[in-house]
Amino acid sequence: SPRVLSGIQPTAGSFHLGNYLGAVRQWVALQETHDAFYMVVDLHALTVLQDPKELRANTRLAAAQLLAAGLDPERCTLFIQSHVAEHAELAWVMNCLTGFGEASRMTQFKDKSAKHGADRASVGLFTYPILQVADILLYQANEVPVGEDQRQHIELTRDLAERFNGRFGETFTLPRPYILKETAKIYDLQDPSIKMSKSASTPKGLINLLDDPKATAKKVKSAVTDTDTVIRFDVEEKPGISNLLTIYSTLTGTAITELEQRYDGKGYGALKSDLAEIMVDFVAPFRERTQQYLDDPETLDGVLAKGAEKARAVAAETLSQAYDRVGFLPAK
Ligand code: TYM
Repeated sequence: SPRVLSGIQPTAGSFHLGNYLGAVRQWVALQETHDAFYMVVDLHALTVLQDPKELRANTRLAAAQLLAAGLDPERCTLFIQSHVAEHAELAWVMNCLTGFGEASRMTQFKDKSAKHGADRASVGLFTYPILQVADILLYQANEVPVGEDQRQHIELTRDLAERFNGRFGETFTLPRPYILKETAKIYDLQDPSIKMSKSASTPKGLINLLDDPKATAKKVKSAVTDTDTVIRFDVEEKPGISNLLTIYSTLTGTAITELEQRYDGKGYGALKSDLAEIMVDFVAPFRERTQQYLDDPETLDGVLAKGAEKARAVAAETLSQAYDRVGFLPAK
């Protein structure tokens, strides 16, 4: 069956609703139909300053959340990026294939380095997308389920795969982005002109999945809408309401047109308080399941050890082909 691969950073605290609706939810669905590889990208996390203790704890927490979200180790391969040395090894080869100007044009680097100050940004942050290229190519992934903000990185992956294949012979599968239109970009609840994110959102605009469910309900109820009262999906004119409709529709599997009818003439308050309840019903058990995995480190470590072993087998084969193609002398 076709292969998918994706990754998520081990951020402090918890995943947010954008991570879940934009990516992780699709990961869960795709493990049923695809040969699926999912990882916690701790190498990527290191591109910005990390406290070692926190990085370790956040990596565990990320894995626990992925299991709580519904990844099933019987149906997918779940692993930690640094457990598979091949990622860093193939990244080096890909670094040498990437133009300096090409890397400079990556928008995430431009945004992040502008934020941290260009001379304080690490070289790792600069080559971040190229490590992601290696992540994807190592597994010969056909599709990469992500949110819209990762599209450019997948385009770079295709470019570099083509370049490598052209220069050294057919080696890598060209991956396609798997981005669902509806949930490609979940917006900040307080400022629906920006995407929900840990770095840019205000605390009130950001739904952290492990927050107190009561606080989450409150954030939903105080989401910014508009001065109109009509509940209609219209991203241009009504970005706040449209974002809430997207979230509501995805969490319940109800079509947006049906929601528009259901709330016709009912006003924003009704929609928000129903959505607050739906959100609580989602995050409360998620929180509990995450805690259960954290409380059972032996099981969690076992899952990750088995995942790393399965991932390594695939990655090692691709890397040895790539090493051979570029002309490295085999180690005897
Ligand atoms: P990360 O950790 O920033 O985000 C994880 C996933 O969540 C998606 N996402 C969103 N989707 C919709 N709306 C939002 N507001 C929103 N915010 C985040 C992201 O698009 C992503 O899919 N570079 C990647 C991690 C990575 C990776 C890979 C992904 C490393 N190697 C290989 C795919 C394949 C990142 O930082 O994601």
